[in-house]
Amino acid sequence: MVPAAGIGARMGAGLPKQYLPLNGRTVLEHSLWRLAACPGIAGIAVALAAQDAHWPQLALPPDVAVHTTTGGAQRCHSVLNGLHALAGLAQDEEWVLVHDAARPCVRVADIRNLMTYLADHPVGGLLGVPVNDTVKRADSAATIIETVDRHGLWRALTPQMFRYAALRCALQDSIKAGVTVTDEASAMEWAGHAPRLVEGQGDNIKITRPEDLPLAAYFLQQQQSE
Ligand code: C5P
Repeated sequence: MVPAAGIGARMGAGLPKQYLPLNGRTVLEHSLWRLAACPGIAGIAVALAAQDAHWPQLALPPDVAVHTTTGGAQRCHSVLNGLHALAGLAQDEEWVLVHDAARPCVRVADIRNLMTYLADHPVGGLLGVPVNDTVKRADSAATIIETVDRHGLWRALTPQMFRYAALRCALQDSIKAGVTVTDEASAMEWAGHAPRLVEGQGDNIKITRPEDLPLAAYFLQQQQSE
């Protein structure tokens, strides 16, 4: 399930960030082709913005069924809509991977690792990277309140992989309760589950700000030469 319904306000570009050109393809095409290259992916559901005029121009991966649905106000609503679009296609206990459209540099090897490590896990989990930097908590004036112990801190990436029905319920219930969840793992944690982190590569960046695009272009080039 690929949420691709954001408007990318922080990019300040004319196009939503998932449609920005990156090494000859759009950001979203890179993400979709990488998912489609993973054995075991039965199909992809993509949540698009209601007025999306760019989707029909994309070159979609040929070997995987791609379904589209309309996104919602926030990422969690878009993901939930995407999960609803899979009703009748996915069984309750089957795994669903949720991957940000805006993470075009995810490595196929990392997705496969996630799927292999968690194949028998009762809950599921996500790709993550341990935090290397010293972390500060600050007030609204950027004055430091404290230095946070970084031991045990991870950055949460995507894909995030959970069982279809459990994820749908966790998202539905957390949204209903008015809890802000910015990833699937947060919804699962809120519902009382304990997801597992699987270490991935730090080049799986989320394109968010203008400076991320040349960085992603560089990472993709580097990956090709590996
Ligand atoms: O805005 P952010 O970087 O957190 O978005 C992460 C992913 O969620 C992007 O792929 C974006 O298109 C998607 N999204 C969505 N629906 C929203 C907001 C974001 O599908 N309402």
